[in-house]
Amino acid sequence: MANSVKTIGVLTSGGDAPGMNACIRAVVRTAINNGLKVKGIMRGYAGLLQEEIVDMNGLSVADIIARGGTILYTARCPEFMTEEGQKRGAEICKKHGIDGLVVIGGDGSYRGAGKLSALGINTIGLPGTIDLDIACTDYTIGFDTAINTAMEAIDKVRDTSTSHERCSIIEVMGRHAGYIALWCGIANGAEDILLPEKYDGDEQQLINRIIDSRKRGKKHHIIINAEGIGHSASMARRIEAATGIETRATILGYMQRGGSPTCKDRVYASIMGSKAVQLLMEGKTNRVIGYKGGAYVDFDIQEALAMTKDLPQDEYEISKQLIR
Ligand code: ADP
Ligand code: F6P
Repeated sequence: MANSVKTIGVLTSGGDAPGMNACIRAVVRTAINNGLKVKGIMRGYAGLLQEEIVDMNGLSVADIIARGGTILYTARCPEFMTEEGQKRGAEICKKHGIDGLVVIGGDGSYRGAGKLSALGINTIGLPGTIDLDIACTDYTIGFDTAINTAMEAIDKVRDTSTSHERCSIIEVMGRHAGYIALWCGIANGAEDILLPEKYDGDEQQLINRIIDSRKRGKKHHIIINAEGIGHSASMARRIEAATGIETRATILGYMQRGGSPTCKDRVYASIMGSKAVQLLMEGKTNRVIGYKGGAYVDFDIQEALAMTKDLPQDEYEISKQLIR
């Protein structure tokens, strides 16, 4: 049953991710091409509570598809975790005529979106995070760009590591999830991949592998360490002390979250943005869009939040088969 949604709001929330701009552009253009109005809400839920709301038109999103970051800015907003903050957020939406809302962010942002849905604002969540750690989807906006950025950086570290016959620990993002580390570990041919979901903290085994690979004639030893394990600098010092092999730590950090999105991130983000508007036009609310098993799908927000996912065991096992 079609509903009478007339004005769509769009916001980005949580950590930014390359492709968010492509997604915003798709929301705005799809809405306008279907005769709807669009309002951009700046700085996520924080901007909503501050009423930082701007009218958007087709031109507001011109020239942004290739840009990293988010033109709407993003923020974290503790006040929105409270019932009072959520009620005020819903009232502000109503005051500005926003009867449909697209929230681009991670699980936390989905929780906020669920609260707004319950308060009568038709809300759709889209997966925006470089970490890939949203259970209801195999794809998140920004992951593809982040792994390509990290992969290129790691290739560079590898060059100098080989020249100096060093061991290198390269820390990639992923506070709770090892997807970036696993993908880079495979893509960069790392000698070791340390994942928060798998690492047992047995540094002596790691040291033994480094000594063994050096004995077999390896000129470098690249360890991809996920942020969730961290402590790369102190780990490097301990490895150097135990092996006698010069060891350096490189923390790639926020560079992984920026940059022009890859083709995949631009296209998937555009399709998801457009589909979110379609769902709102169909009268849907409290849904999140994902990409699963080769197709775009949507789920109830609470159902999506209750889902769990783990690193694919086969990919993890294969990553170990590729090391020698
Ligand atoms: P992400 O969306 O990437 O998971 P956060 O967990 O930081 O990022 O969440 C982004 C924002 O979503 C928070 O700053 C807060 O405003 C809102 N949020 C998070 N959890 C909740 C919740 N349980 N209820 C309402 N809003 C929430
Ligand atoms: O965007 C996801 C992420 O990069 C995590 O991997 C990381 O832990 C976190 O964001 C750090 O973001 P911030 O410093 O902005 O809180």
